[in-house]
Amino acid sequence: MATSWTVAVTRQIPEAGLAPLREVAEVRVWEEELPPDTEALYAILDGCDGAITLLTDRIDGALLDAHPSLRVVSNFAVGYDNIDVPAATERGVLVCNTPGVLTDATADHTWALMLSAARRIPESIEYVREGRWKTWGPLLLLGQAVSGATLGVAGLGRIGKEVARRAAGFDMRVLAYDTVQDDEFAAEHNVTYVPLDQLLAESDYVTLHVALTDETRHMIGREQLARMKPTAILINASRGPVVDTDALVEALQNGTILAAALDVTDPEPLPADHPLVTMDNCIVVPHTASATVQTRDQMAKLSADNLIAGLKGERPPASVNADAVLGN
Ligand code: GLV
Repeated sequence: MATSWTVAVTRQIPEAGLAPLREVAEVRVWEEELPPDTEALYAILDGCDGAITLLTDRIDGALLDAHPSLRVVSNFAVGYDNIDVPAATERGVLVCNTPGVLTDATADHTWALMLSAARRIPESIEYVREGRWKTWGPLLLLGQAVSGATLGVAGLGRIGKEVARRAAGFDMRVLAYDTVQDDEFAAEHNVTYVPLDQLLAESDYVTLHVALTDETRHMIGREQLARMKPTAILINASRGPVVDTDALVEALQNGTILAAALDVTDPEPLPADHPLVTMDNCIVVPHTASATVQTRDQMAKLSADNLIAGLKGERPPASVNADAVLGN
């Protein structure tokens, strides 16, 4: 039985999230493929008590001021750099996200990207599709070794740790860089914390798993790429702006590094004629690291649970500012 709550969902999400919302609220869903523009976002949120938002929706102080009824913003993502959290906290608005449920999917995808770039899988598929496969060739489409190589994980949080754990199956040496250290995890999984410069210089694969903040924006720029091995491969499944796009294009064109595999880019989407999309030594996929049926169901369910708990005045299962808004 619906109560008097009204909530907006700013894109189609799995039914696993919509069904519980419909039981307690009137639900407005943005049905288009493309995200609502600012005007449409303001309109769909008009009079809403809460919303499930996406990383393509910019939620800032001005939007919250224009929607004083909005009490819970539940992001359908673990990252929440699209939301001005201090502005929300100041206005007593709960901000929620979906940590945990997408960790394995994102770590698996990171490995898919790493292996694909190392073994030149997209190029190989194209080679066969184009009818160029004439015979077995000793020098055909040679890639880079993964087993026994050195993996550098920049950002050893939930996802970085799962990526690192999977490296044991490939007998890799694992280096990590982070601003906080989990010595117990490092000891248990044979991970060595090193400064970022050392990680860049010694790794065959550098994979990025940091949140996007003022400190991590362009964390990988010209100078950092120059420290990497000419045979190194960069993987980014965090946020596009962590890497300086122009510097990466240059590094891939000049042979400063060998290749890159990107789940995220800056900007998103990248046009089809962008050098990162057209170069053979760069793989770009459309920000799909958490895109499994199972994970997206879990994200939908968790974002709905967060929203419903917040509307009820309860502590949501995953909120980034509940302590500040509800008290400890
Ligand atoms: C996706 O990028 C997420 O933050 O969940």
